[in-house]
Amino acid sequence: MDAVSVIRTKRDRGELSDEQIDWVIDAYTRGEVADEQMSALAMAILLNGMNRREIARWTAAMIASGERMDFSSLSRPTADKHSTGGVGDKITLPLAPLVAACGAVVPQLSGRGLGHTGGTLDKLESIPGWRALLSNEEMLHVLDTTGAVICAAGDGLAPADRKLYALRDVTGTVEAIPLIASSIMSKKIAEGTGSLVLDVKVGSGAFMKTLQDARELARTMVGLGTDHGVRTVALLTDMSTPLGLTAGNALEVRESVEVLAGGGPSDVVDLTLALAREMLDAAGLKDADPAKALADGSAMDLWRRMIRAQGGDPDAPLPTSREQHVITAPSSGVLTRLDAYGIGVAAWRLGAGRARKEDPVQAAAGIEMHAKPGDRVTAGGPLLTLHTDTPERFAYALQAIEGAYDIAAPGTAFTTAPVVLE
Ligand code: URA
Repeated sequence: MDAVSVIRTKRDRGELSDEQIDWVIDAYTRGEVADEQMSALAMAILLNGMNRREIARWTAAMIASGERMDFSSLSRPTADKHSTGGVGDKITLPLAPLVAACGAVVPQLSGRGLGHTGGTLDKLESIPGWRALLSNEEMLHVLDTTGAVICAAGDGLAPADRKLYALRDVTGTVEAIPLIASSIMSKKIAEGTGSLVLDVKVGSGAFMKTLQDARELARTMVGLGTDHGVRTVALLTDMSTPLGLTAGNALEVRESVEVLAGGGPSDVVDLTLALAREMLDAAGLKDADPAKALADGSAMDLWRRMIRAQGGDPDAPLPTSREQHVITAPSSGVLTRLDAYGIGVAAWRLGAGRARKEDPVQAAAGIEMHAKPGDRVTAGGPLLTLHTDTPERFAYALQAIEGAYDIAAPGTAFTTAPVVLE
């Protein structure tokens, strides 16, 4: 077998055989297939697609490239969720302790932000002392003692995906449904969860811009999970507007703690509860009541234990930015649009995200939103507050916000779209 013949098969719109797929994933993981060859193959897949059999085999080969975790020693059912990524998407932070407080075990292997979308680990690292890197033994210990863990995937889990995802990121080949589906599901299946809820984002701030593409991605991932014995469901949720009123690491932790304390923005609370219900259902805990666990403080107690178990101090003050810049509303009226992509890019440029994988992020950088679509705004009143430690970033961030919102005349009727679309 050789890489050029595999590339030619896909370039010429052929079907890759099982043998070709197994060989190319294994040889790439071992370094025998070069990055330039794999990027040519990824581009051929992006342009010409893969059928169901090819996607299933590709996913199985990525799982087989590394270890599989095993939670069968735990006495309670496991439930996990994965979001395809968005702006202000801090849902994992309140959701994991909430679902654990309702009786499931939540092994949440999470990622870092890249580009305009934020990453759960970057957010949690703004809590003084908190550690994302745990050994498998530490992870099992935190799960066993608290019921929830949010940590980085170990190097041994789907190493083919780790290499391939970094390559896709720099070769314009991220946005291919077969590659996204196999990337996400290989990690989730190798992680060993019994059930999985997928939050597939749709809109300007998401990888999938249309409902049709999001549906196809969701169906592909649900099919892969089901075929591997993981009870898998998907919700399609809106990402045309940022979630909540903050985008940025420490800012989002603060908002998540507000949700756990029984407050917080309604879209964050609604989506957290909707995903919690799906996770509990998939884990066979139909009678659990996540709204009660939020209201009675049991989810907050679990959050505090989970943060402490990973070295963090839940009572420590979160970092605040050295510089702020307030954008005021140019006219009075009704805010009718606040674009997730524009806000995400601005937060990223302020220092909340990274341009290259190895870059550090600023814990306190980001954006506070003072209004969401449907809210009334007053000329000269605050619309957005930009936060950074490096004020030279303001000008570049402001460019991303130009044209990212619309204000209509006072009294204009506006119906807020539901956050869960399907
Ligand atoms: N998240 C992943 O883990 N992989 C992708 O390909 C896209 C989003």
